[in-house]
Parts: sequence; structure tokens; C-alpha cells
Amino acid sequence: AKNMTDEEKLYRFKGVLYPTLMCPEENLKCLDNIKAREDDIMLVAYPKCGFNWMVGVVRKIIAEGTGNKSEAKMPPLIEFFGPEILKMVEEAPSPRFLGTHFHPDNIPATFKEKKPKMLVVFRNPKDTLVSYYHFCNNNPVLPSVKSWDSFFTDFMSGNVAWGSYFDHALAWEKRMDDPDVMVVTYEDLKQDLSAGIRQVSTFFGFTLTDDQVQQIAGASSFSAMKESSTNSHGNMGKVIFRKGEVGDWKNHFTPEQSREMDEAFNKLLAGTKLGAKLNY
Ligand code: A3P
Repeated sequence: AKNMTDEEKLYRFKGVLYPTLMCPEENLKCLDNIKAREDDIMLVAYPKCGFNWMVGVVRKIIAEGTGNKSEAKMPPLIEFFGPEILKMVEEAPSPRFLGTHFHPDNIPATFKEKKPKMLVVFRNPKDTLVSYYHFCNNNPVLPSVKSWDSFFTDFMSGNVAWGSYFDHALAWEKRMDDPDVMVVTYEDLKQDLSAGIRQVSTFFGFTLTDDQVQQIAGASSFSAMKESSTNSHGNMGKVIFRKGEVGDWKNHFTPEQSREMDEAFNKLLAGTKLGAKLNY
């Protein structure tokens, strides 16, 4: 990454920007050959909406729900592994735990055919932007951030890795009633994690006792996950588990920027089911 220019760190595939080092073109192309299973457990999120939080939660739900305490490994983001992913997923026993940051239209078609359950995590776009800003500031494989203002502009125009937040949101909005799709929000999880855990485990067909739910909630608090983040995520642990709060945008946005985001939200998502869920 050190030898790459900022321009080289992102490239376009089928119209969407991706990080060159994390998901080179061969990774994305080989996904034409991945085979979905009906009982896959899929986690999907736009970057910085709380993907890693839900990874921790879902891993524990699977461990408790299946009684296999050896725990499913980190779910691979299917776009990270290159041709190796095909072998990895083929050999994995069901239920497989898979993750992606893809826009729904770019999830390989096999998943549309098999219709495994997909848990989608969303977050208020203002806090998502702030989290993404700090992440780009601390991740050498992504373009360095020139300034807060320039990152704001890039985010609003979808000029960031995995593309526009609003494009993702509008595409999921169309699938809010699909029985194989469930959307949870970062804000709801912050407010009542146990309720979220019950909802998610029911969605994936697991029945947990109250004790199990409480235990998972305790182990999935921000402080607990941050504490073990070096084990779970290596050097990126402290970067990913940054602050873990709702409303940090108030420390970053100018009134003008806040208005601009409100306008975008009102134009695109107000009055939609996803918009209502985001409780913006
Ligand atoms: P902040 O940067 O606002 O702190 P992702 O995993 O999709 O990259 O999202 C990262 C964001 O989720 C970060 O937000 C991170 O702190 C937050 N997060 C991770 N684990 C969390 C937890 N257990 N509780 C609350 N927030 C969490």
C-alpha cells in the first residue's frame, strides 16, 4: 500500500469503486463461480454500519444455537479472498456464515436463486460517514483523507469504496418485504441489544434461552468487543472498534453539512420503510 498513489487504491468494477488491494478484480470475477446454499447465513452491510459488531453477535448465536461451541470463524467477506474463497466455502459445513459489503445488485446471482437468509445492518448516514472518515484516516489500503470537507463530498457523491450509501439503502428498500431479508439498525441494537439478538436468532431459526441471550449481549457490548479486538482483528482492532456511539456526527458536521445530509435523506428515504426504520 505504501507504494500506491491514492488514485490507485480504488478502482471501478461494474461501475462501483472497490479497494484495489482488498478486492482486486480477480476476486470479484471469481465470484461468478461461488455456489450459495439455502441454509447459508448471510450478513450484509454498507461499510461502517456495524458489520463487525453483528459478526460477533451472529457467531455467538450460531455457536449457542447449534450447540457447536467451537464457533464459526470470522465470516469471510466473500469479496476479500480471491479464487481461494471457492474452496473455502465449498469445504465449509452448513450452516455457513458469509459476509459481504456488496450492493444487493452485485451479490452473486446464485444467492438470489437459493435465497439464503440475509441479515442487513444499517446505520444513520451521518454516523456512518463519520465512522468511514476515521476508518479511511487509519487504513493504509484506502485513499488517505485530504480533509473532513473533502471526505464529506466524496461520501455524499458515492465516491468511496463500495459506492454510495444511498444507492445501497434504496436497493434494500425494495426488498424490505422479502421473507429472506431482515434489516436491523445500529441505533436499535444500541438501544436494546438483547431484543436485537432475539430477533436475529429467530430470523435464522435458532431458539435461545434468556440466559443465552443475556450472555451474548454481555459479550457483544462495545467495551467487551473492543477489549478483545486485537485477538479478533489484529492491528485493525482498535481502528474498527473506535467509539461505538450514536450521534458522534454532532462533533463533526457543520450546520450546512447537516442540512445537506437531511435534504438527501428527505429526498431519497423519507417516507420509505427503511427510512422509518432508521428513525432519522
Ligand atoms: P464508530 O467508528 O462510530 O466507533 P463496521 O464494523 O461496519 O466497520 O462498523 C464499525 C463501527 O461499528 C464503528 O463505529 C465501531 O465502533 C462500531 N461498533 C463495533 N462494535 C460495536 C459494538 N459492540 N457496539 C457498538 N458499536 C460497535
